[in-house]
Amino acid sequence: MMSSQPDRPQDGPPRLLRAETLEWSDAMLLGHAPIDVAHEEFVEVVTALADCTQHSALGCLRDVEAHLLSHFAIEQEWMEKTEFPAADCHLDEHQRVMDAVQKVNALAAVGEVGLHDVKRLAQALADWFPGHADYMDSALSAWINKKMHGGAPVVLRRDLQATAVA
Ligand SMILES: [Fe+2]
Ligand SMILES: [Fe+2]
Repeated sequence: MMSSQPDRPQDGPPRLLRAETLEWSDAMLLGHAPIDVAHEEFVEVVTALADCTQHSALGCLRDVEAHLLSHFAIEQEWMEKTEFPAADCHLDEHQRVMDAVQKVNALAAVGEVGLHDVKRLAQALADWFPGHADYMDSALSAWINKKMHGGAPVVLRRDLQATAVA
């Protein structure tokens, strides 16, 4: 199914790629549960993609695509429900990411993507996510909380007491 590059399980995943991969922590919570749940799952599927083998790559790619469809749909639904004013550029960014993932998936399905390309996609997603979450998704979470509860989100982190996020 996958082309070219041999899988070398004895060497494990390339160190450079693995070292840069995301790790979930409560510091990434934004305070709106449906988005936080989606974000924790994003970290899971992208980590699985970064760690995939020649054998598991196609399944991991499909998991990432399925995850992103639901993750982005959840955020869009909340934008619509709360009349979020900055929806366009946020949705454009989602679309660019979706296009990149679907392009790799389409090529992988016909055996035109090597394991190295899959790992590069995992790295690109891991690089993209923190900035998007900090900037666009945190603004969306704050907006939703303001609309729904009239205040900024209160983030409950397991290792802290309650922390009010301004
Ligand atoms: Fe998000
Ligand atoms: Fe987003």
